[in-house]
Amino acid sequence: MVQPAIQLKNVKKTIGKKTIIHGLTFDIQPGEVFGFLGPNGAGKTTTIRMICGLMKMTEGDIYIFGHSIKTEFKRAIQHLGAIVENPEFYNHLSGYRNLVHAARMVSGVTKERIDEVVRLVGLQHRIHDKVKTYSLGMRQRLGLAQALLHRPKILILDEPTNGLDPAGIIEIRKYIRRLAEKEGLAIIVSSHLLSEIERMCDRIGIIQNGRLIDVQTVNEFVNADAEMTVHFIVDPVDLAIEVLKSTTGQQPARTGDQLQLSLEREAIPGIVEILVNAGIKLYGITTQKKSLEEKFLEVTGGQQIV
Ligand SMILES: Nc1ncnc2c1ncn2[C@@H]1O[C@H](COP(=O)(O)OP(=O)(O)O)[C@@H](O)[C@H]1O
Ligand SMILES: [Mg+2]
Repeated sequence: MVQPAIQLKNVKKTIGKKTIIHGLTFDIQPGEVFGFLGPNGAGKTTTIRMICGLMKMTEGDIYIFGHSIKTEFKRAIQHLGAIVENPEFYNHLSGYRNLVHAARMVSGVTKERIDEVVRLVGLQHRIHDKVKTYSLGMRQRLGLAQALLHRPKILILDEPTNGLDPAGIIEIRKYIRRLAEKEGLAIIVSSHLLSEIERMCDRIGIIQNGRLIDVQTVNEFVNADAEMTVHFIVDPVDLAIEVLKSTTGQQPARTGDQLQLSLEREAIPGIVEILVNAGIKLYGITTQKKSLEEKFLEVTGGQQIV
C-alpha cells in the first residue's frame, strides 16, 4: 500500500469550552487534489492550521508521510508547502527579489530552482516587475511559487481563489492541476464554493460544524445514485402522461411538449419501449445529471453552502 501523504486521525480542537473540530479522520494520497469544502465557519482554516503545525490540536494526531506532527515536527513539516492566509510580500521589490529573500529562509534553494518555480506558475514575463504592480491572481501565483521553493511533496492552499477574478480563478485551477499531475504533489485546497472544488479536485471532503460529513470522489459524488432527470419530447403529450403514470407510478412533470421523469439510466430503454408501444411519437430524449450542488444540498439537508 502506498504511504498516504497526509493522515488525520481523530483530530479534535477545543478552544475554551467550545469544540471547533470534532474528531476528523481522513487520508490524502500523493498526486491527489483533495478539496476541503464547507461553509464559512465550518472549520477549514482551523484544520489546515493544525496540519501545518501553526495551531496545536487538542486530541488525535496528524501524520505527514508517516511522521507525526506532534512527535516528529521537523521531519513532518519539511514536506509541506502552504499558503494559509493571503501571502505577504515586499511590494516595492520585484517578484524575483521576494523569492530570493524567501529562499534564504530555507536551505538548499538554488537559483535554478527559483527560475523553475517561476516558470511553474507562469510568471516568467513579469517576475522582475515590482509586486505592487501585480494583480491579485499574480500575487497568488507568486505565493504558490514561494511555497514550492523547497520542493514540498504536499501543498496546502486555504481558499486560493478567494477574491480572484474569473480569469485568475481559471489560472490558479490550471496550475493546481498541473502541479498534482506533473509533479505528483498531494494538494489540499479549501473552498466554500462548490463549483470551484468540483473543477479542481479528485476527491472532496465536506466539512460542516467541525465534522466531516462526507468524503467522496468527485465522480462518485455526481453519480452516487445514478438518478437523473430525463426529458422526453412526445406527441400526444396527454396520452404519454397517462401511459407513464400507469406504468411507472410517477407523475411526469410537463413543460410544453416535454415531459420530465426522474429515472436511473437503466430504466430509460424500458420507458422508450412503453411509449413506442402505446403509439406515442418520440421526437427526442435528453438526460440531465444531478449537479454536485444538488447532491451537496441533499447531503447537508438543504443547508446553503455560500
Ligand atoms: N481562535 C479562535 N477562538 C475561538 N473560536 C475560533 C478561533 N478560530 C476559529 N474559531 C471558530 O471556529 C470555527 C471554525 O472557524 P474556521 O476554521 O476559521 O472556519 P472556516 O475556515 O471553515 O471558515 C468558527 O466558528 C470560528 O468562529
Ligand atoms: Mg477559513
